[in-house]
Amino acid sequence: MARRKKIYEGKAKILYEGPEPGTFVQYFKDDATAFNAQKKATIDGKGVLNNRLSEFFMKGLTQVGIPNHFIKRINMREQLIRSVEIIPLEVIVRNFAAGSISTRLGLAEGTPLPRPIVEFCYKDDKLGDPLVSEEHIIAFGWAAQQDLDDMVALALRVNDFLSGCFLAVGIKLVDFKIEIGRIWENDFPRLVVADEISPDSCRLWDIESGQKLDKDVFRRDLGDLADAYTEVARRLGVLPSNVTHAAKPTLIN
Ligand code: TMP
Ligand code: ASP
Repeated sequence: MARRKKIYEGKAKILYEGPEPGTFVQYFKDDATAFNAQKKATIDGKGVLNNRLSEFFMKGLTQVGIPNHFIKRINMREQLIRSVEIIPLEVIVRNFAAGSISTRLGLAEGTPLPRPIVEFCYKDDKLGDPLVSEEHIIAFGWAAQQDLDDMVALALRVNDFLSGCFLAVGIKLVDFKIEIGRIWENDFPRLVVADEISPDSCRLWDIESGQKLDKDVFRRDLGDLADAYTEVARRLGVLPSNVTHAAKPTLIN
């Protein structure tokens, strides 16, 4: 079969032209990067796990009525998605202090925040995805005021949904990042959750032990990243409970 046309290659995923207009195929690589790709590795099985986990969360969002780009999983590493105009902002929601907000504001990691805090970073690798304010976003035309209001509402709905999913399996959702895209329907724009939702883009701590089950394991050299992601998948029922990373992930259909 002729190879599909590559639309875009990022650090952890590749987008190919889809089989029908308005669709893309999203391929999950095993590559892991951190600190704007200053640190890099290949983690066997990460792409397979993130493909399956992102499918799980996007389907769950659909079930509770939160619009997103997911159509269906095609195979171990690929999913069919709707093509969207990505808004060039990373939308971060924080429930507890960790990572950059801890550094920036001198808050101990794990400090509960008074309410979920939504932050925006401008997506530009050359600049290291800087934190920006709503003023910047409006003034530079990255999104309109209405889009911003809709993005905050969407991000908070995703936060409620994901926090509940993780709480049910003994995991605290410390923070996460999503990307949001625009889909045009009969000349009307609609905002949808795009990109991926996986332990690459969340901070996940075991509620009892505080053990990290997300990409900080790689960023901070805390152990085996695929083991951590396998544990998240196993708890969510995405993998059978008797699977260990050593045995290699086995997927449930
Ligand atoms: P931060 O504390 O480093 O700002 O990260 C906040 C959340 O966003 C955390 O869950 C990790 C996620 N994140 C990404 O998904 N991509 C990124 O490029 C960065 C910097 C963070
Ligand atoms: N910024 C991403 C992260 O740390 C990856 C990268 O910057 O290379 O999650």
